[in-house]
Amino acid sequence: MSLQPERYDEDNYFDSAISYETEPNYSTLAQSTGKILKAKGCILRIYNPSNEKLEIKGYFGFNYNDLPSPLLDRDSGIAGWVFKNMKSCSIANVNADRRFINHTRLILHNLLAVPVLYDTRVYGTLTVYDKVNKKGFNQKDLWYLKIAADYVASNVKNLLLSKKYQTYYHNSIYSFARAIEAKDSYTVGHCDRVASMAVKIGQQMQLPEKQIYNLKIAAFLHDIGKIGIREDILNKNSHLTLAEYDDIKQHPLIGVKILQPLQMAEEVLEGIRYHHERYDGKGYPSGIQGDEIPLFARIVAVADAFDAITSDRAYRRGSDFNSAIQGIKENMNRQFCPNVVNGFLSLI
Ligand SMILES: [Fe+2]
Repeated sequence: MSLQPERYDEDNYFDSAISYETEPNYSTLAQSTGKILKAKGCILRIYNPSNEKLEIKGYFGFNYNDLPSPLLDRDSGIAGWVFKNMKSCSIANVNADRRFINHTRLILHNLLAVPVLYDTRVYGTLTVYDKVNKKGFNQKDLWYLKIAADYVASNVKNLLLSKKYQTYYHNSIYSFARAIEAKDSYTVGHCDRVASMAVKIGQQMQLPEKQIYNLKIAAFLHDIGKIGIREDILNKNSHLTLAEYDDIKQHPLIGVKILQPLQMAEEVLEGIRYHHERYDGKGYPSGIQGDEIPLFARIVAVADAFDAITSDRAYRRGSDFNSAIQGIKENMNRQFCPNVVNGFLSLI
């Protein structure tokens, strides 16, 4: 694994992280729908606006190779007609219907299709094929199929809302990072380098994906509280007075205060609040020690220090890679948690 940091790309920096709202298993839904309606097959298609196709998201009763058009034009075939007109459709003899395009090797007879609707928006279609008793689908089948489609529609709607919320959340994070970069020239690139390193250490320590996502945010925003520190102190090239240093020491607490309205996970806020604590208890702002210091803060501390040592400052050049690693090693158990340092060292 490389210690080389990556510059973040705002379009996908957090998108590569996990989305906690996941699609349900639509093939299970297709299977239960097909079985309850005594159909030989069932297909759920959801419209994808980016390619303007109705995509198969779940199916039952078909082999993968027999699936009719996994990507169907939105105005093509019976599914396209149902989607476009937002109307249900029951066909006793599909082969006599001009709209029907049989893309499969299967011989199909009858079908029942309903739009996947939420309020006035249509998200896709749900279709069952070939009633086992050959009498075709009835009103009761239609009623049930609409319920199944309603379930899918509310699910798709929730997913879209959740994605929208997630985008706002990520954009807020970028805005905060830009704000601190605008104020403190040293932090330009520092936030993403520390986040990149923290993620690598977290992965090395085998943290679960959900924690890695939160760790990335905590590391990215660890110095956000510097927004509340006077610029002349932040960018001072000479030694700080004791009073100025006391001011600087407030930045972890200010950071937490700034982010509190966003209702971030507690572990994110803890990572920010305690990132200047030391393993020997001589850090700030609380002076807690050892494993009392939350794990995220112990990880961010190492990632932050490594980047600080290797970066150039106005008043000094950054140390070389080997001296930086040596510096981290020497401070194991004093400034840094040994487990985190071992995770860091195993990246080399
Ligand atoms: Fe800091």
